[in-house]
Amino acid sequence: MLRVNRSTLLFATLLGVAACDTSAPTAAPPTANPPAPLSQSVVVPASLGDALRLLTTAQRRQFEVGRAMFQTEFTPETGLGPLFNAVSCASCHEQPVVGGGGSIEEGGEDVELHATAFHGGTTQCDDLAAVGGQVIQKQLTPAFSAYTGLTAEPIPAAATDSGHRTTPDLFGFGLLDAVPDAEILARADPLDRNGDGISGRPNRTADGRLGRFGRKAQAATLREFNADAFVMEMGVTNPLNQTEQTIGGLPLPPGIDPLPEPEISLAQLDAVDAFVRFLAPPPRALLGLLGARGAFVFSRIGCASCHTPVLVTGPNPVRALRFKAVPAFTDLLLHDMGPDLADICLGQAQPAEFRTEPLMGLRFATTFLHDGRAATISQAIDLHDGEGLAARNRFVRLTAFERAALLKFLGSL
Ligand code: HEC
Ligand code: HEC
Repeated sequence: MLRVNRSTLLFATLLGVAACDTSAPTAAPPTANPPAPLSQSVVVPASLGDALRLLTTAQRRQFEVGRAMFQTEFTPETGLGPLFNAVSCASCHEQPVVGGGGSIEEGGEDVELHATAFHGGTTQCDDLAAVGGQVIQKQLTPAFSAYTGLTAEPIPAAATDSGHRTTPDLFGFGLLDAVPDAEILARADPLDRNGDGISGRPNRTADGRLGRFGRKAQAATLREFNADAFVMEMGVTNPLNQTEQTIGGLPLPPGIDPLPEPEISLAQLDAVDAFVRFLAPPPRALLGLLGARGAFVFSRIGCASCHTPVLVTGPNPVRALRFKAVPAFTDLLLHDMGPDLADICLGQAQPAEFRTEPLMGLRFATTFLHDGRAATISQAIDLHDGEGLAARNRFVRLTAFERAALLKFLGSL
């Protein structure tokens, strides 16, 4: 088994000298990106949105097939709806390239509405599965709209909270899926035994598995998230999730959902799963001396206590995912971020708890925090409360030079 020296990796990753492929040859893979729409003045590195190195030819081909499927626009005839948020994965995950994040524009397709019921105490979170689920779809197919007289799913009466969710980028998420549970659990400190004011704890699914995907770490595996995204975002059922979303849990009237379930094949689901799984982390931008100083400020003021610079993947049948250092800048744990950021619950995550957002790919984000309420990185840090308050206060007290250094560093991720 490959042995990784953690402190070397940590600082190498902070400084941006370790890519995720610690054992990879240095030649960059050929770029097969279609020209992508660019709405902001970000310089897109040649390989952003490309696949991990070390894939086999067959895996690389599946990545390309999956990228096409990720961009395929569904219609009611091919399985869209009857409730949906958008017509393709790429209509939200598109900035600055396919597989990236969303934007906040007129229409607001890339910003979602989620709702749950939380009654406090030890009561489990109710994700409203019985009355239409936690994702509140913003669109209905013409047939369903004509039948119901509605243009969007109403928030179920049983909901106690709702919240907005911007679309995150997916660069490097297959590597996050390949991090062993033990690596994540080793950082959990639910009772804050080390007394640093930070008590990350894992989310768990209803059947007890460790959660890591979604802003509240509600989903255990990338594959399940991808399969559920087909249903919750597009109303496209698939072999892993064959249940259409409905309004208020009422059965769909006949003729509204013409295709039998599942609406896509296992091969189509597998291809999209491969595309997301094999998307490489963004190449790091050059740091310079100022940025290198910022990397140390980041550690010194306690940002790295939650935004763990590097996680290491475990054994994996896919060579490209095996024993790799992931410059993720997350511990994949839940932290209480204070009452202002609080919205819905999910799994064991209470309203104020969020998964440490990976900062991998931060420089391509256009808005920050789960609902996009922060317009700048500084604002996002300023809004850290709860377990994040001490680090936030240390940030506020930085000298102008140290602050510039930290922001330069963050702008390289
Ligand atoms: C309507 C916009 C929209 C569409 C369409 C969409 N997504 Fe997403 N995606 C989101 C949002 C919003 C989140 C954050 C959800 C959360 O925080 O719980 C997300 C999160 C994800 C994540 C988890 C990322 C993380 O931070 O853990 C994955 C994986 C993902 N989407 C894959 C897909 C796939 C695959 C498709 C197509 C089948 C798809 N998405 C379609 C908006 C969208
Ligand atoms: C207690 C754990 C914790 C600490 C300490 C912490 N963060 Fe965070 N950070 C989070 C969580 C959780 C989120 C997601 C919050 C949300 O989406 O509402 C986040 C979000 C962010 C974001 C927004 C990312 C995005 O794409 O929206 C930035 C930037 C950020 N943190 C930077 C920092 C910096 C810089 C520091 C040090 C001053 C820091 N954080 C300290 C937990 C932490």
